[in-house]
Amino acid sequence: MQTVLTTSPTEAAEFIKSGGIVAFPTETVYGLGASVFDETAVAKVFESKRRPADNPLIAHIAVPAQIAELADEVNEHARKFIEAFFPGPLTIVLPKSDRVPLIATAGLDSIGIRMPRFGLAHQFLNECDTPVVAPSANLSGRPSPTTWEAVYEDLNGRIDCILRGDGTEIGIESTVVDCTSDVPIVLRSGSVSIDQLRNVVPTTAAYRSDKLNVVRSPGLRHQHYSPRARVVLRESGVGLSGGPGTAYIGLRAPARTSEHELICSNVDEYARSVFEFFRECDRKGIKTILCEKVDEIGIGVALMDRLRRAAAAD
Ligand code: TXA
Ligand code: MG
Repeated sequence: MQTVLTTSPTEAAEFIKSGGIVAFPTETVYGLGASVFDETAVAKVFESKRRPADNPLIAHIAVPAQIAELADEVNEHARKFIEAFFPGPLTIVLPKSDRVPLIATAGLDSIGIRMPRFGLAHQFLNECDTPVVAPSANLSGRPSPTTWEAVYEDLNGRIDCILRGDGTEIGIESTVVDCTSDVPIVLRSGSVSIDQLRNVVPTTAAYRSDKLNVVRSPGLRHQHYSPRARVVLRESGVGLSGGPGTAYIGLRAPARTSEHELICSNVDEYARSVFEFFRECDRKGIKTILCEKVDEIGIGVALMDRLRRAAAAD
């Protein structure tokens, strides 16, 4: 399959309308889209990125009115979150409407819904004229793509089109909050923090992976975000020395130089850069990546979550 590169949201949307699959930028990471109501196209999304069939997809919308195509009812919590955070890096999970094919939700009776705020994503989704399911546009298990080149590296020849945009501004996937029960539960951390959610719905709870909860977010079971190199987390200022074959990313310069280094000026920049840094390390054949730990406040919570998953993948 030849993958068309374009900067035109109109051209990219034509592929969706004719049953194709298209990678497009959002404010979080690049997504790999298909029309939610086209089961064949949705199947292609799973196939092209080798995604396990039990991991549900998020439906992306251009305007809040499209929620009615995906969910029959929007409860009070969800309504409040939508008002406060749409468009933006928040995914809400609601009971799905019968119209949504089960392949999109991996057999679940709920669906994740998100309205990106990134301009090019909005134009593209608007032109598609249908909600678009989109997982991150990487091969399963690889770091999420924050540049179109990273999408190309993983999926060239496997998808119909890449809508080329700039690097993504947040760099870490959306916060996912389950609104299907009385108490909203954060299933995945992102740049919308649990404190921000609690300001809107005070009962919002953090996900606990006990046995009862285990099926709530199938994605949490799968291996994620891992470069080929081994990822090692280090306390700030402790044992941050590198040497040959190692790379380092963090906020403070390490005592000993590594082969490849990125010193970020703040946690936002660290979060925005980390997935691309992992990919650069793989391109350079780095064996070990040292990552400085950060305080778990604000986006630091999501960054530490992704770093721990990458470190656990060895
Ligand atoms: O920022 C993002 O969310 C990006 C961009 C492209 O929007 N998308 C993304 O999709 O990260 P993906 O497929 O890589 O991650 C979706 C996560 C998975 O952990 C999945 O299990 C969870 O959301 N999820 C999706 N639908 C769900 C549902 N109905 N119930 C529980 N979890 C769900
Ligand atoms: Mg993903």
